[in-house]
Order: sequence, then C-alpha cells, then structure tokens
Amino acid sequence: MKKFWIYLLIAMSSAAVASASVRRAIPFNDGWKFHKVTTPAEVSEVTLPHCYNADDGTSADYYRGEAVYAKTFDAPAMEKGDRVFIRFEAVGFQAKVEVNGVELGHHKGGFTAFCYELTELLRTKGNSITVTVDNRKDMTIAPINADFTMFGGIYRPVSLLVLPKGHITPVDYASPGVYFEQLEADATQARAAVKVLVDGFDDKELGRLSLYSELRDGEGTVVARTSTNAVMRHNGFNALADTITVANPELWNGRSNPALYTLATYIIKGEVIVDKVEQTVGFRTVEVDHDKGFILNGKSHNLRGVNRHQDRPGKGWAISEADHREDMELIKEIGANGIRLAHYPHAEYFYDLCDREGMLVWAEIPFVDNAPDNEEFAATTKSQLIELIRQNYNHPSIFCWSLFNELGGPAATKIVTELNDIAHREDPHRYTTAASNDDNSPLNAIPDIMAYNTYPGWYWADPATMQYAIDWKYRPDKQPLGISEYGAGASIHHHGILSEHPDTGGDYHPEEWQATVHEINYREISKRNFVWGTFVWNMFDFASAGRTEGDTYGMNDKGLVTYDRATPKDAFYFYKANWNAEPMVHIAGKRFTPRGAEARQVKVYTNCDGIYLIHNGVRYYPDGNPQAHVYTWDNLPWAEGENRITAHGVSDGKIIYDNCIIIYNK
Ligand code: GCU
Repeated sequence: MKKFWIYLLIAMSSAAVASASVRRAIPFNDGWKFHKVTTPAEVSEVTLPHCYNADDGTSADYYRGEAVYAKTFDAPAMEKGDRVFIRFEAVGFQAKVEVNGVELGHHKGGFTAFCYELTELLRTKGNSITVTVDNRKDMTIAPINADFTMFGGIYRPVSLLVLPKGHITPVDYASPGVYFEQLEADATQARAAVKVLVDGFDDKELGRLSLYSELRDGEGTVVARTSTNAVMRHNGFNALADTITVANPELWNGRSNPALYTLATYIIKGEVIVDKVEQTVGFRTVEVDHDKGFILNGKSHNLRGVNRHQDRPGKGWAISEADHREDMELIKEIGANGIRLAHYPHAEYFYDLCDREGMLVWAEIPFVDNAPDNEEFAATTKSQLIELIRQNYNHPSIFCWSLFNELGGPAATKIVTELNDIAHREDPHRYTTAASNDDNSPLNAIPDIMAYNTYPGWYWADPATMQYAIDWKYRPDKQPLGISEYGAGASIHHHGILSEHPDTGGDYHPEEWQATVHEINYREISKRNFVWGTFVWNMFDFASAGRTEGDTYGMNDKGLVTYDRATPKDAFYFYKANWNAEPMVHIAGKRFTPRGAEARQVKVYTNCDGIYLIHNGVRYYPDGNPQAHVYTWDNLPWAEGENRITAHGVSDGKIIYDNCIIIYNK
C-alpha cells in the first residue's frame, strides 16, 4: 500500500517532486584572483575554466610551476542541517585546496573530478578559498612524460553543491553516487541493477529510507519504475540497491540509433523525497572477438574511429562547450563511429556528447611512457583509474577502460596487473585494453583486448607495411587486435609528391604524404574485419611543447584538421569519402599550387558515382578503378600556368562537384 502511495505521489505530481528536491549545484567559476608564484605581483581576475598555459603551450619553455587561485565568497543560502561540498571537474595536475586557512584536501591527477566537504568551515560571510595548482613534472603523478603539453590550471568548471544532511553522496571518488549496471540487454528485455550511495543518515533513518527509481525514454515517457528498502554496502557507503527491468527496450546502437534513457533516482525518508539524482543511461551489448572483431548488440560493427586531444590555441585545456561540440561535428562529418579519448579522461560534457551522438568510446588514464618505482606513484595512478571508472560508469558510449599507452619502466608490470584487477573489480562488464608500441612487451598479455600504435609510412617502413604489422607483427594468438594509432604528420603549407616518407623529425611535412599514408594504411586495415577497432592519430593537431618539426615547433601535426579546427587537410576528405554517407566530392592537392614537373597527378576522394573531371574545358574519365574511394588521373595535358579543374560525381540523380585552379609550371 505504501509503495503504491509513493508511486502515485511521484507519477501524479511532478510539481511535488520538483519542490521536494533540495539538491543544488551552484556554479563557482567567477571572481577568482590568479597569480603564478613566480610573479606574485601580477594578479589578474579570472573566470573558470582557466588555463595558465593558454598562450605559451606550444613554447619549449612554457610555464611549468605553481599558481594560486583565490576568491572570497559568502555561504550559499542554506536550510538547517544542509551540507556544502565543492566539486572541481579537473585541475592540471595537482591542487591543494584551503578554505578559511584550513586544508580541505590535496588532489593529484590532472584530468578527473574531486569533491570535498566544507560545511564545518563555512561562515555566513567572507569565506576565503585558495587553490594552489602545480603542473610541474612530479614523480608521483602520471604522466611522467608524454608527447603533449602538460597544461596547468583549473581548466574545467567548479561548483558548490548544497545537499541536505542525508543525501546521495558526491564524495565517492566524485562519482554521481548512482550506478546503473546493465545486467542484460536485447530487443525483448533489458535489466539493470541500480545502486544509490547515501550518506548522512543514522541507522534509524536508514531503516526508514526507500529508493524509488524510474526510467524515462527519449520522449520522457516512464517505461519502468521500481522501489526498494534494501540496503547494502557499496564502495564503502550504504547503498540502496534495486533492479529495474524494461520490456522491448530501444537499444543504444551507435551512430545509427543512440537511444538513451533517463534514470531518475529518489531517496525517500518516510514519505518525503530527500534527494534525487538523474543520470543518462542506455542499454547495449559489446563483444570483441579475436576473429570477428567488434560486435555491437549482436551485430558486427566495424569500429572506425579517431583519437582526440582536448587542447586548442589560445585556450589550452580551458575549452568551452561550443568547442567540444565543434570537435564532435568535425568527427561526425568524416563519418567516424568511435573515439579514443587520448591520453587521459576528457570532460564530462564530451562523454555526454558521445552518448548522444552514438560514438563508441575508448576511455583511458594518463599512464604514458614511464612507470617509476615508487609507492605513491602506484597509488595515484590507481586512484586516477578508479576516478575515471566511477565518474563515467553510466555512459553507454564507453566500452573499454584503457590501462596504459606505450609503457615501460621498472614498476610497469606490477602496476598494470593491479590496474587490470581494479578495472575488473570496479566494472566487470567492460573490457580492459591498452595501446602498446612494443610487440615483445610482457604488458601486452595483461588487458582483455589489445591494441597497437603503429606508424608504417611515417616512423618506419612504407605505408603498405601496415599489412605485415597487422598479420605478423602484432596479432596476438588469443586477444583481439585493434589499431589504437596510425597516421602521419602534415602541414597545410608544405606540398610535394614523394615516393618515400620525409624526415619525420624534419621541417618538411607535406600534406600529400599524410594523405598517401592514410590511403594505403587504411586500404590494408579495411581488408581485415578481425581488427576490432582502428583510431586515426589524430583528429586534430595538438600542442607538444618539446617537438621541433614541421612548420610549427611545439606541435604534433598529425591531425586530420589543423590546431585551430579551421582547415581540414586532404586526409580528412579521404575518410569522409570512405565513412560518411552524405554525397561528397573533394579534389586533393588543391593547396599544391603552383606545382610543376612530375607533380602531374590529380586525385579525387568521393563516395559518388559517375566520376569525371573537366580540365580546362575537356572531360576526362579516371584511370582504372578507384581504390577505397580514391580516383586518379595521371595523364592530364597540363597547361603552362592556369589549369581549371572540376570534379563531378552523381548521387541520387544529383550532380555533386568540387573545383579548383592549379598553376602548373613545366
Ligand atoms: C605515440 C604516442 C602518442 C604520440 C604519437 C606520435 O605512439 O602514443 O602520444 O603523440 O605516437 O608520435 O605522434
């Protein structure tokens, strides 16, 4: 009877639900004073997110040191018994947080959220908070070294959480406090365990608590509801635990149909709702097979993805939601269906976008290159993994947890073994993986599924060697094989046709060679469906302060798109022709003008039919059959000076075209 009453209360009176919900998250981003410890007199007023390497992140001597963020604030409006927490979404790379002169905590790890309670320290007015941030190399924090700039700052948002005395906890490694654990999912039924971690209730109150959970579909219709009084222990907290079942669920099915549900969980004491948390969730199954590759919801699903770093010029890591959306739109434009979020946990907003857009996500910790042998390093690396998993557990887009990237060092085997166990314990339903560049490393045997970073055509051999890399060099006997990185550097200002790769550490990185590497690497990859996933290195150019190569020092220029996201390189269109369904025609090498002598080839990437070129008014059909959507013309009668070229294709009876003018000098 009581149960029925609760159902009725919640189902019938959404107004009552809203007013009873007292949890508040207050943005805490304005009015900070900032200075670097080396220049204490240079204090500036900043709004978070803020990155103190926004302007120097590509210089060899970018600022790696301490900086201080301080602010005064009044206590938020509170009711008697309310408790206040502060949640940082990420600070690069460690942060000591003090309120009114008392240290709240010291967090190590530059990419994950952390949350502290400050209730006892709060005065009604005039509180002070100081956050001392440090982005120096520290032998207790991964990564020790990596091929990217270690940007400093409070570069993701901060909020104050005002919660009732008894609440869903925000301090379980800064997880949402709600775990949605899919137990089964197919077209007829889906079932998930729901665990909600509570804190601040005494034993008597705990006995009067119930959890009400409801699941709403994309239209907001409630498709399942359940309630329970069962209490268990989870992650060291009391948790109310239930199972929720949906008949005929709509499965989250990647890009084609990323169906999502909203899980609303209410903690009810007696007959009053005391706290509520909503999470976006989805049902799907993922299997990765040694021979069949990637299987989503029982069907073979070629996982064709890109890697992404999070930095941008003039912003470093302090990027906006609009920046995240722009990245996602570019990734969608080429038709990729997966993203390796390298080499660290990315913003919560971006994982949400991946859920919404149906991108399959490889999530990873920043355990790159080096594993020093000290206990604190092991402990902070493990906590970075636990944070990654607990904070992101409910995202349907994430299918694996990656333990390391190109790792060596004295303590590597021990830590990776422990990390693998932790990941399985925290989440028995997702695969562990890793990105290796050493086919002889004993570490490769540890994760469930393996992947390799390999650069035939760039750091070694010629591009067609991808074939040997996949079939002979890397393919494990039992573990499934993925390609976690492949690619080549390119400047949109460097052009030329080469027969072998340029000096990769040199100053000449022609755009045409990058395109050739991708065309040939990908041709080999796409013949092999057993490869469970492939990820282009990289979707965007990114800052790597130590690099001295290409046309801009301090950059890794292997992006398909320039650092400012303004210019897609030719290789971008190669993938667009292969992966995306919208009709498109792109003439490669348009920027290769003027050109001369042997540079006589015209190449077109297209997914249309009936392809021909009009060259200075004359029609030419392509030489031979296309390979992986690449059409070529090797014998055009180039005119001295201006050559007008239009490439035509047909799709659904419509003509699609691209054109350019190339200056040719014999
Ligand atoms: C490595 C590594 C990346 C790096 C890339 C490159 O294999 O995992 O972090 O940026 O290769 O050299 O471009």
